[in-house]
Amino acid sequence: MPNTAILQKAAALLQAGELVAFPTETVYGLGADAANPLAVQKIFAAKGRPSDHPLIVHLSDMESLAHWATEIPPVAYQLAEAFWPGPLTLILKKQAWVPTAVTGGQDTVGLRTPAHPLALQLIRAFAELPGSRGGVAAPSANRFGRISPTTAAHVQEELGGRIAQILDGGACQVGIESTILDLSRLHTHGAEILRPGGLDPMRLAEVLGEMPKLREVKAQDNAPRVSGSLLSHYAPTTPLQLVDSATLAGFLPPQPGARYGVLAYSPLAVHATSVITMPAEPVAYAHKLYAALRELDAQNLDLIIAEAPPATLLWNAVCDRLRRAAAAK
Ligand code: TXA
Ligand code: MG
Repeated sequence: MPNTAILQKAAALLQAGELVAFPTETVYGLGADAANPLAVQKIFAAKGRPSDHPLIVHLSDMESLAHWATEIPPVAYQLAEAFWPGPLTLILKKQAWVPTAVTGGQDTVGLRTPAHPLALQLIRAFAELPGSRGGVAAPSANRFGRISPTTAAHVQEELGGRIAQILDGGACQVGIESTILDLSRLHTHGAEILRPGGLDPMRLAEVLGEMPKLREVKAQDNAPRVSGSLLSHYAPTTPLQLVDSATLAGFLPPQPGARYGVLAYSPLAVHATSVITMPAEPVAYAHKLYAALRELDAQNLDLIIAEAPPATLLWNAVCDRLRRAAAAK
């Protein structure tokens, strides 16, 4: 665990407009001062990400919600009360002062309070510095379109040498990104999930009083409103194919002698260069997913075969990430 001096240094780097990677409970984030457009530009440069993609602003608590957002419906406070700190991002109308560099030019802003103690300590230390508005803009700390990092070593692989500091907080507990819930069109569209993620949608339903709808992303929809919505995302460099359990049991490599890896949650006796057995339960599976994809990706395989999880609500977030990984060219 980094000590206070390391955290103070990280907070001072943020204040100075530099980039600091830090752990959250979902994945590692690449942080910059959200009120400083020049600092935010550095995020896009380091990631190689198009600058019209909006970023999530990380706050230390819900007290500062109204500093960043306006027209906040009461349900936003109820959700924040119930799930912050935690893997839920709320999309709300932004305050006029919030830089458009953070919001991808939109009139909404994504806000969340992460649950990792180091993230909270960093945001608090940053918030206390003179001139700070207390918001840390942070996308996942990977190169654009690649697998999100769930350890400090992953961040080093992705962005080492490009950023001022990496805080090491161990392996991320949740392992996939936050659930994104759009409340900015509540009156016309209701609460909509833009990206399924680390929060069980049934728990959202308990607060909302109904199941939130999932906003469908069409294949031709290249709008960067939610960058995770680009179909090819969260992807290993090795091609990945999703197959159902029965097909996997009898799977033969497309070319004889091909090197292929398997990601399976069923106890199947498959012949492959490399097999990673995943938990048969979605929360534990999510925790391990990105590290497993990285491990297979590092083995110079011709193909990764992933056993398609059940098409149930609880597996939704994992299925979403696997589909996107499979869609990559
Ligand atoms: O768990 C997470 O959410 C992680 C950790 C670091 O907090 N962050 C993360 O950030 O996944 P990123 O940038 O990789 O994904 C954030 C998503 C993007 O798909 C972005 O388009 C969407 O949030 N987003 C941010 N602000 C938005 C807005 N105003 N409207 C719609 N989507 C927004
Ligand atoms: Mg990302």
